[in-house]
Amino acid sequence: MTKDRSDSRRRNLVKNKPPEIVNNHVPTRVSSKTKQGLDFRTKLIGIFVTTVSVALIAYFRYQQLLKDAVITPFDSPKIIHDNSSSPLVTPERFWGSYRPHTYFGLKTRTAHSPVVGLMWLQQFTGKMPPPIRHWCNQDDQIKGYGWTAHDGVNFGVQEINDDNFVLNTSFVKRSEGIHGGDWTAKISVIPKESGSPIFVSLMFYIALDGQGSLDPVASKNRLTEINGHTEELGNFRMSFPKASAKSPKYHHLVTYTQSIEKLKEVMMGNIRVDAWDKARTMPYFILGGRMVPRDSPGGPNYAVHQITAQLPIEMEVLFESESVEDRSEPLSGDTYDKTLHKYLARFDQKFTDLFQLQRKGYNKSVTKFAISAMSNMIGGIGYFYGSSIVQSKYHKEPVNYWKAPLYTAVPSRPFFPRGFLWDEGFHNILIREWDESISRDILFHWLDLLNSEGWIPREQILGEEARAKVPAQFVVQQNRNANPPTFFLPLQKIISNMIKSNTDKDRAILKALYPRLKAWYNWYNTTQVGSQRSVYRWRGRDPTTNKQLNPQTLTSGLDDYPRASHPTDDERHIDLRCWMALASGVMADIARALNAEWEEYRATYQMLSDNKLLDELHWSKEGQQYSDYGFHTDKVKLEFPKVNPNQPPGQQPEKVRVEITNPKYQFVNSFGYVSLFPFLLKIVEPSSPKLFSILNNIKNPNMLWTDYGLRSLSRSAKLYKRYNTQHDGPYWRGAIWINMNYLTLGALNHYSFTEGPYQELAKTIYKDLRNNIVENMYRQYIKTGYIWENYDDKTGDGKGSHPFTGWSALVVLIMAEKY
Ligand SMILES: *[C@@H]1O[C@H](CO)[C@@H](O)[C@H](O)[C@H]1NC(C)=O
Ligand SMILES: *[C@@H]1O[C@H](CO)[C@@H](O)[C@H](O)[C@H]1NC(C)=O
Ligand SMILES: *[C@@H]1O[C@H](CO)[C@@H](O)[C@H](O)[C@H]1NC(C)=O
Ligand SMILES: *[C@@H]1O[C@H](CO)[C@@H](O)[C@H](O)[C@H]1NC(C)=O
Repeated sequence: MTKDRSDSRRRNLVKNKPPEIVNNHVPTRVSSKTKQGLDFRTKLIGIFVTTVSVALIAYFRYQQLLKDAVITPFDSPKIIHDNSSSPLVTPERFWGSYRPHTYFGLKTRTAHSPVVGLMWLQQFTGKMPPPIRHWCNQDDQIKGYGWTAHDGVNFGVQEINDDNFVLNTSFVKRSEGIHGGDWTAKISVIPKESGSPIFVSLMFYIALDGQGSLDPVASKNRLTEINGHTEELGNFRMSFPKASAKSPKYHHLVTYTQSIEKLKEVMMGNIRVDAWDKARTMPYFILGGRMVPRDSPGGPNYAVHQITAQLPIEMEVLFESESVEDRSEPLSGDTYDKTLHKYLARFDQKFTDLFQLQRKGYNKSVTKFAISAMSNMIGGIGYFYGSSIVQSKYHKEPVNYWKAPLYTAVPSRPFFPRGFLWDEGFHNILIREWDESISRDILFHWLDLLNSEGWIPREQILGEEARAKVPAQFVVQQNRNANPPTFFLPLQKIISNMIKSNTDKDRAILKALYPRLKAWYNWYNTTQVGSQRSVYRWRGRDPTTNKQLNPQTLTSGLDDYPRASHPTDDERHIDLRCWMALASGVMADIARALNAEWEEYRATYQMLSDNKLLDELHWSKEGQQYSDYGFHTDKVKLEFPKVNPNQPPGQQPEKVRVEITNPKYQFVNSFGYVSLFPFLLKIVEPSSPKLFSILNNIKNPNMLWTDYGLRSLSRSAKLYKRYNTQHDGPYWRGAIWINMNYLTLGALNHYSFTEGPYQELAKTIYKDLRNNIVENMYRQYIKTGYIWENYDDKTGDGKGSHPFTGWSALVVLIMAEKY
């Protein structure tokens, strides 16, 4: 659906494009001297026409420039050059589990990679059509799934806890040859209880994305191997050795799909019903064999191997590159197990050395939880290719960004399997600890998405599979909209490491990186400013809506967190100001280390961290807290509008906002995460009495303190837990979020080690908060099998999307005390 929509947009675009100026005939000959009188008039007209056409041409050119700016790449060499993800340059990360939206799927880091993956179904359940698992989906109600170990390079091990059985998927890579090498995937399924027999079908597929060829070899019904070829992979062979199971039955499908986004649908369309045996007459679902539509262009591009058996089942899939010359043993059987165990042992050792959780007093079970959090952060990394759909004020219709690759982690595999700008900064605090080369690669991919204006779109929905997951109204990215520049958090360390290492390669990277950071910073520092000096304001708030209790600020990342009730240009946003202080400080350090002009960054940093100025602009005496400022009233409610007698009956109107008191310019005194920012980003001076006040508000149970972490909005705030519209429940209005708790712990840790009157207080709060977070997240994980998007402040229960092993995985760093 989404896809059709964007296609029709693309067509419209072509239609709506202003006519290109083809007749570039600026008259230059105005000089014949005969027939002077008449000529003079002609001349005047000529000059007039010339001037007008030059002006018109200039005008259209200028308009076109303005229009194109948003979709023009930043004019500077890219950090990630075209071949840097290729199997020759980065063979070790060529293949990977880069399809995080699938329960199990692999692809390469190329624009149009073939995709492989797993679907499965339980036979003889009486359900029609049979429920098939493929893309991660909360509605499947799986009792827990995720990587139990994954190093981002060599291997991954995953456990999926389905209703009646446990399904393990693992893969191991061997990067030899010039095409990215081999891998083997192993799937084992065991029943949970030894009760009545359970029959399961495993369907393992490969599909091409617009290039290459597949030549499947079947023997009777069993697909034994597929010989294939693509541009990047050269010749390869994918084989399906006999599974280990009690009298398995095999089927297969060889067909053609128009889009890799439709694999499940195409397969469903080719399922037939058979009988298992004389005794078992319930429908038995099998694949229909070779079904290549007559009108498909070229041969098959989609092949599925199906095995059905009573549990337990164990199967392997081997992918072998023809370019591997000397393959002593296939990566199979004992060799597979040994290789996997070698990697697992290395992984465990690395994890232990890095995070030292045992020394921090954590037992095996809690450590296992942390390993799973980390593995899912790393195992959730995807590779996407395509273009965002963007819009600037010069466009009536959205336009396509340039096509580009993105290697990025994702917040949540079932719900948000794509790149989000501000999440990614948090993700990379953890990823960098684990493997800095992965983290650099990710951040540099993002920074290469910078356009000529210095803007990076905040949500990256690239490629057909990604787009299929997003409601249409969220697809278009507006170029006036920001998102917190959290990249500066991990970049600080990465850049300092690069400067220390001082290798040729790192120097070259820094050279490409710096102009981009400068432009990115400058975009924030010019487009997100407020109406007076040193004041900042998020764009993208809707001043016209009457459906929202408090107009959202999606750009701040904190969606419905209460801000000024009536958005105006005179608002001041305290969180953005603090983000800018952080960014200015990091930019000053980088510029200085690179012998570039750093003084202005330092001056901006000093201005933004000057506590006196900060207090004048953002300290609310009345609320005794740091606050936004704006045109505001918090005496508002949602009500059904008075019934209009002319309205056709049966149409229930939607609730609208009613103001009980008029708004006025004032501080927005709802205490919560936003009020903490000068503290979170360590701007408040350690000796400031305001720090004391913040610490007290944090540990006050009527405000932010709970046994499970800090809630986002004070229990005493007017909009605490309130719906924002008739249908939109509270999101950042009370729930406990782990990224903000991570920043809080980092700040508490900082203030407890920095000389000042509140050191001890900070230390005590730090200890209790850290315990509460870890204990509760662990308890919820044991109880539900998941790490969650956020946690309920009353019960500690996990809420929202799950698994959510984006920034919630920062719990690992909280345990390890790495801030
Ligand atoms: C990338 O590889 C291709 C083919 O191997 C080569 O033609 C091209 O010059 C390379 N580009 C860069 C930037 O190294
Ligand atoms: C699945 O993996 C888990 C942990 O990785 C392991 O304990 C379990 O035995 C495995 N089950 C199967 C069926 O391989
Ligand atoms: C490990 O520690 C957790 C959290 O403190 C506790 O709930 C759990 O019972 C402990 N497990 C074992 C096996 O000691
Ligand atoms: C950022 O913007 C402010 C004005 O809003 C300006 O005073 C400051 O010099 C700018 N900083 C940099 C580094 O450009």
